[in-house]
Amino acid sequence: MPSLLMVPPDHYGVEYEINPWMRRSNPASPEIARRQWEGLYRALTEEAGATVLQAAPQPGMPDMVFTANAGLMRGRRVVLSRFRYPERQREEEPFRRWFQEQGYEMVEVPPGTSFEGEGDALFLGDTLFSGYYHRTEARAHRLVGELLGCRVLSLELVDPHFYHLDTCFCPLDAETVAYYPAAFDEYGRRVIEAHVPHRIEVEAEEAARFACNAVVLGRHVVLNAGCPMLERQLRERGFVSHSTPLDEFLKAGGSAKCLTLHLDRWL
Ligand code: ARG
Repeated sequence: MPSLLMVPPDHYGVEYEINPWMRRSNPASPEIARRQWEGLYRALTEEAGATVLQAAPQPGMPDMVFTANAGLMRGRRVVLSRFRYPERQREEEPFRRWFQEQGYEMVEVPPGTSFEGEGDALFLGDTLFSGYYHRTEARAHRLVGELLGCRVLSLELVDPHFYHLDTCFCPLDAETVAYYPAAFDEYGRRVIEAHVPHRIEVEAEEAARFACNAVVLGRHVVLNAGCPMLERQLRERGFVSHSTPLDEFLKAGGSAKCLTLHLDRWL
């Protein structure tokens, strides 16, 4: 059974602005966020068959719910994240402690090199597609590839609204992605076309609903509500989609995928 890491939204909120979605003047409702997080948890565990492990939420770390940024897993090895912004660098310590307690082999890129974990690095088969510019630095990619022993393809992210790769690129199986082409430059689009045989192009309107920020568990795909076009295309390709409202998390620039980290990238 696939397992995921999540952090409950006890301390979640829009308390600073480090991406274009975040406005302190547009705060999240703690009650609605809690309900939506629980809805996602249920969809993942009861509908899509995942096991969810939890790390303890920490006061003063409102973005810790976005566990996709904790690190990147392959086998028992995890590459720990180094966050670009000081507001999130505080999360590094509690996540490190959690991985250590679970017995993962922890590796890292050198200090001063930013790398934001699975938020910017997604496996498609054995190839790691990595995004850079807004958060993760391009020079981190080669290092991560060496640490995990895998091929890395680098993609520049050109639209600040799609600042992490997982906001605009979603591997569905070893040969299929859903992605938002306008988030990439011409070269990046060519890399994707050359390496991924089956591609679902997500429309601007649904990309802005974080359609690409979906959690894929075998043939099950869990995503934000309000993305009917992607859901239809997923069904046509034999996937089972589960949508659940996550608007309170969109206010911080995150959705389903950002709220989870895959823990079982066994070789
Ligand atoms: N507010 C968070 C940030 O800007 C959202 C992170 C979303 N995570 C993700 N994997 N895309 O860092």
